[in-house]
Amino acid sequence: MNLLVTAGPTREHLDPVRFLSNRSTGKMGFAVAQAAAERGHTVTLVAGPVSLPTPAGVTRVDVVSALDMLAAVQRLLPGHDALVMSAAVADWRPKLMSGTKLKKSAMSPLIELEPNPDILKTVRPLKGQRLFVGFAAETGDPLAEAQRKLASKGLDLIVANDVAQPDAGFAVDTNRVTFISATEPPRPLPLQSKLEVGHALVGWLERRGAA
Ligand code: PMT
Repeated sequence: MNLLVTAGPTREHLDPVRFLSNRSTGKMGFAVAQAAAERGHTVTLVAGPVSLPTPAGVTRVDVVSALDMLAAVQRLLPGHDALVMSAAVADWRPKLMSGTKLKKSAMSPLIELEPNPDILKTVRPLKGQRLFVGFAAETGDPLAEAQRKLASKGLDLIVANDVAQPDAGFAVDTNRVTFISATEPPRPLPLQSKLEVGHALVGWLERRGAA
């Protein structure tokens, strides 16, 4: 299988030194890429700004913003059989981006934002026979919200993680996830390393017949 994985946060710059972002470290997406490479698949990893080494055998493409990530996914998707979006893409970006550092005296206390495109929805017309997997970072009722995203984004599988738990979600080496697909009952997995979650996810793609 040729697998395209996204990982990490995106940064939405106000100026060259200030940005909006989130707590994603890339660990989950890098673990998916590592697991797939260990299982003999060809992996391209589109990484937001993170400080992790590239897993052995994985081709890495670094990006900064959500628009950069969208452009990379659009360019790379045709050569891949499956897309796993574990990146925490910023939903909003500053409307204005200064090319030079803004002086404090010139800054407004209000930042005007505009929405970023939803990457999964934007590339949906390119899906064809490819398998698309999303992640859902939730703090309330993870399953209901993940099921809504599965349907609205046209996914084959969504991996729900309750990011309110200290041993799951952002920045830790473990995760507690539930696989939710349109065709099978939800499958909760025990607390395990992100690499083990990666192997479970790639195993799911293999069973679903990604080439
Ligand atoms: O990187 P770590 O520190 O290891 O943390 C891992 C993680 C918590 C970031 C990861 O497990 C995770 O949950 N990633 C998805 C986080 C997220 O953005 O969830 P969401 O519910 O906002 O988005 C749902 C899906 O839509 C995701 O697959 C996301 O990549 C995708 N999306 C979101 C926004 C956007 N503009 N375009 C998208 O395609």
